[in-house]
Amino acid sequence: MQPTLTPRPAAPNTAPRMDMYVAIHKALRGFMTETLARVGRIDVLDDDEMARCLGQLDDLLTFCEGHVKHENEFIHAAIEARQPAGSARTADDHEDHLETIGVLRNQTFALKAAVPATRFTLALRLYRHLALFVAENLHHMHLEETANNATLWALYTDEELHAIHDRLLASITPAEQMVVARWMIPALSPSERAGLMSGMRAGMPFEAFAAVLEIVRPHIDAPGWAKLMRALGLAAPVKFA
Ligand SMILES: [Fe+2]
Repeated sequence: MQPTLTPRPAAPNTAPRMDMYVAIHKALRGFMTETLARVGRIDVLDDDEMARCLGQLDDLLTFCEGHVKHENEFIHAAIEARQPAGSARTADDHEDHLETIGVLRNQTFALKAAVPATRFTLALRLYRHLALFVAENLHHMHLEETANNATLWALYTDEELHAIHDRLLASITPAEQMVVARWMIPALSPSERAGLMSGMRAGMPFEAFAAVLEIVRPHIDAPGWAKLMRALGLAAPVKFA
């Protein structure tokens, strides 16, 4: 893949349709870039910090595996049902991603098992290969949000797309839901965040909703938090037990 300053395909400039990719891909972009930066500054001579950093990387790779599975089973399956081979390009990418995840896991294990003198070299190798994986995923997600969305919009109504997305969401485990919340809510714009959180609040007990707020609070800046509290009608500080 050659680097380019011109997005190909270009993002559409049309009236919005139902977009299954936008929020989860914002979460994934944030998770990937923050983890990449953290691996770049890893202190290989501090065992506790190294364990936390590599733990976050392991969480990211697990998240990526789940994301590929969800897209294959629901989004690609929907495309294939009405346009055979319509998801071939991004399905091939997914195979490559799973293979690369295996390589990154092996490199992570090697770093964990290494004596301190060799950790610097292994950490730099892991960082560079993770950067390439992130770069490939950034390109891949753009393709899905442009080409795959165009295909989905041509094949399905928004009502049908919402039904497919609802089935995808129903397949996500509670543990996955918490990871998604941690990375998605901070990654959204204030209006997107308010819409998502209002829906969550309406669909769960307030104690569970407050637990989600507690998880994301450290990752949202002060202006963003104030906007969210206003949107939710919680302008007064929320007290957590
Ligand atoms: Fe994908």
